[in-house]
Amino acid sequence: MDLQGDDLTEAVVASFDGSESDRYKTVMSALVRHLHAFAREVELTEDEYFTAIDFLTRTGQISTGTRQEFVLLADVLGLSMLTVGLGNRKPPEATQSTVFGPFFVEGSPEAQLGDDIANGAPGQPCLVSGKVLNTKGEPIAGALVETWQADEDGFYDVQKDLDGPQNRAHLATDAEGNYRFWAVKPVAYPIPDDGPVGELLRAGGRGPMRPAHIHFMVTAPGYSRLITHVFAAGDEYLDTDAVFGVKQSLIADFTEHQDDDKTYYSVEYDLVLATTEETQQ
Ligand SMILES: [Fe+2]
Repeated sequence: MDLQGDDLTEAVVASFDGSESDRYKTVMSALVRHLHAFAREVELTEDEYFTAIDFLTRTGQISTGTRQEFVLLADVLGLSMLTVGLGNRKPPEATQSTVFGPFFVEGSPEAQLGDDIANGAPGQPCLVSGKVLNTKGEPIAGALVETWQADEDGFYDVQKDLDGPQNRAHLATDAEGNYRFWAVKPVAYPIPDDGPVGELLRAGGRGPMRPAHIHFMVTAPGYSRLITHVFAAGDEYLDTDAVFGVKQSLIADFTEHQDDDKTYYSVEYDLVLATTEETQQ
């Protein structure tokens, strides 16, 4: 039986008829149809096909527990932000979500309220504080706040050869919902562009820069997990984020302070969680 054109597409779709779940069948059928439509639209050549296979192979080969090249690929193609938008329909009072990014690491150190989590990372001291609230403005005590960010040189701890974590910790909110820690003032940084994703960006005439930000992941029983950033107001890359993650409501002022001859910064940002009932999946 010679299968070609639409018959080929439909035969591949039909091959998933015995899928273990309806959802799997729906997703795989749509994936096949869109992949085939894509190849037809661009009239994909065999050379391009082999280039793509090589690209994906190298994307896998460079990936490790701390180098998440596939996350980066999804990020620069906007798939991460698209998925964030589809999966996070919640009330306008709740803090908006943005990309998870490739630099989260399980098992961050536990910090107490007010601790310095920079742990010697280069950068200007920055006091990060706020409350974790529900959409009625009530504090959530005991919420788990995970945070991670780059240093003044634009590197996350996992990109450096270090003995211990820097600018990375988890802490619990107090009875009034407060979180508070010292880290360093975040700066704009390039996403890792020495691998396949960097090649993709250069071939597309695109830059690797992300505007300065602090990552947060907040969880509390009965609430939907919040994955977001707080961006620094005035950053020159807010409109050209390489991973399309900026939302206006996530931009905050980092205020400069002079204390004798020392300079430090502070930022205050409340993180508002939606309940699981308020979050339509
Ligand atoms: Fe980041």
